[in-house]
Amino acid sequence: MFLKDVWQVAAFAKEVGREILPRTLAGEAVILYRTSAGAPVVMLDACPHRFLPLSMGKLSGDVVQCGYHGLCFDHRGDCVKIPGQDRIPSTAKVTVFPVVERYGFIWVWLGDATKADESKVPDFHWMTNPEWAVSEGYHHIDAHYQLINDNLLDLSHETFVHPHTIGNHAVAESPLTVSEGEGTVIAHRDILNCEPPPFYVQAAGFSTRIDRWHTTIFTPPGFLVIKNGSVPAGMPKEEARAKGIARERRVLNLITPETETSSHYFWGIARGYDIENVGLTDYIRSEVARTFDEDKLVLEAQQRKLGDHKITHFPITLRADAGAVRGRRLIESMLRGVSATAAE
Ligand code: FES
Ligand SMILES: [Fe+2]
Repeated sequence: MFLKDVWQVAAFAKEVGREILPRTLAGEAVILYRTSAGAPVVMLDACPHRFLPLSMGKLSGDVVQCGYHGLCFDHRGDCVKIPGQDRIPSTAKVTVFPVVERYGFIWVWLGDATKADESKVPDFHWMTNPEWAVSEGYHHIDAHYQLINDNLLDLSHETFVHPHTIGNHAVAESPLTVSEGEGTVIAHRDILNCEPPPFYVQAAGFSTRIDRWHTTIFTPPGFLVIKNGSVPAGMPKEEARAKGIARERRVLNLITPETETSSHYFWGIARGYDIENVGLTDYIRSEVARTFDEDKLVLEAQQRKLGDHKITHFPITLRADAGAVRGRRLIESMLRGVSATAAE
């Protein structure tokens, strides 16, 4: 079961061009391409004649031609040519999904097309705002998307999974506070007067003790904006900002389910300091990719252990799970079609 009446990321915009790109999104096999005018198209990867995947056909001008009997479909999904006959049956049509290109992504609406409202695309403006420098990447994760949400709503795991980059013992020892916004769950940690972990030395330039913080803002089904940063220990944030020594980032996580046991994980690390430093952008990309490789290892091992079992409640709930539990509850209530408030 997936939420369909939502905008989700189908691809980085730069991935989609004049070649057919097949991809599975929330259980739907689709193809992506651009018309000659550059407009992105997402349509079902199935010819309505005998169901050969259209990804086995070819993009010819602005039509997709099926690789079996040569039916041609335009960007609206309408059949425009059938070899050997003039009459085109009204059923010769492929479902085309609403799309929006924004923030460097192709967004798709897989649900009821009449509800697709472009103003509802989640805000990820940091990806393309020139005041931020972005290191971006993608991980394919063989795990259910909610396991990734859980991971990002409880960052205490940094201590144990990421000791070589962003974690140290202080993270797991710091208390988590959780609140809810409008259709969101917010999980916050202040980690005060701690040693800077290796990433904070290399990518933020701290060599003395720091105060750091994480605020994860979760919006279903799989959007997590983590506002994080650090200042010299004991210095008020405003003072550090005024002195230009606060180091603040947005860790942008956009997860689209692929199947019940796999996910597309698009990510970007936007930083608001030293933004012209291309070497730093590359360094952050490689260190974060390495860090997320560590998450992938954990998440895929969890999924292998769970198998196809659709777990909704775990036997132990810790204080640190408060954000993840509320995030799951929010998704459950949306799947049931009720607001989270009504579900309380
Ligand atoms: S299956 Fe596509 S044209 Fe026949
Ligand atoms: Fe992690």
